[in-house]
Amino acid sequence: MEIKLKDLKEQALKEIENIRNSEEWQNIENKYFSRKSGELAKLLKDIKEVSDDLRPKIGAVANEIKNEISKALEQKKQDLNLDIDEDLERDFIDVTLEIEKYKLGHLHPVTQVQTELEDIFKSMGFMVLDGPELESDYYNFEGLNIPTWHPARDMQDTFYIDPKTVNGTENLVMRTQTSSVQVRAMQKHGAPLRVVIPGRCFRNEATDVRHEHTFYQLEGLMIDKNISFTDMCGFLETVAQKLYGEDTKIRLRPKYYPFVEPGVNGEVTCFLCHGKGCKLCKNSGWLEIVGAGMVHPNVLKAGNVDPDKYQGFAFGFGLTRLVMLKYNIDDIRLLQSGDLRFLNQF
Ligand code: DAH
Repeated sequence: MEIKLKDLKEQALKEIENIRNSEEWQNIENKYFSRKSGELAKLLKDIKEVSDDLRPKIGAVANEIKNEISKALEQKKQDLNLDIDEDLERDFIDVTLEIEKYKLGHLHPVTQVQTELEDIFKSMGFMVLDGPELESDYYNFEGLNIPTWHPARDMQDTFYIDPKTVNGTENLVMRTQTSSVQVRAMQKHGAPLRVVIPGRCFRNEATDVRHEHTFYQLEGLMIDKNISFTDMCGFLETVAQKLYGEDTKIRLRPKYYPFVEPGVNGEVTCFLCHGKGCKLCKNSGWLEIVGAGMVHPNVLKAGNVDPDKYQGFAFGFGLTRLVMLKYNIDDIRLLQSGDLRFLNQF
């Protein structure tokens, strides 16, 4: 057996000595090292037949020979400057390497709060609508009881669209409020009506930590027979409690909005300190989150709803504001930034 091994070694070394190119090199390597049919594989099988007491010695010699052949092959490769293994190296995939896990995205914090609100309103029988962001002056202002000459236009700094940029269409604006969908909703669905409209609004703001040209509101409209101001109060309180918990109270104070009469500014007890006063509510105990009021008869008329038969209330939540309050975000511009260092926190 030992002789057989030595013969094999000599034969191999001779053959290696005669190699002149990579094809020959590859053939020889296969001849000896092929796992199935290589000479060394055959040898290993033979060793299994050797008697127990001789096997360790023969095994050691076989191993030595295997190493010598392997070394000689390697040396030949270097001597001839063959680039045989490079293909292999290039194609080599280390399946044991840890790969970066596939990262799942998630909803934007504004979308998360929007969905939360939509669910509350849907549970109260409201449908969810949307409307155009590039809107006519009519739906954004006129139909809402704000004629061109009205000083209330100054409450909102508007992006007016140059007709030249929209095939000559006049009187287009970037909607300043989701209230713009009120008249559209009435015209389309008539009365009675329960609808909420979440969406993006735009104002020509000088941006800073509290002002942004693009932000979100959620508008709501409820129209039916015999709807009173107290219905509105109870409704807003229920929504606030669904949003911030059973013990939440609301406070309504008069505020002028041209499309409602009377109009109110709605505050809720601070969800963080429960009304005691903290940094979030600037020690007042209250957070301003909604504007609301009884729909003005002129607005009902614009929506083809008879104000003698129907009444209703409208409300507008500052959706962006709700998000900032919920997560204690101190710079509104972060929400539109697309900055993953910010977004990954939600
Ligand atoms: N659209 C108003 C704003 O942007 C918010 C608002 C106030 C909406 C009163 C309403 C409302 O529906 O009744 O400031």
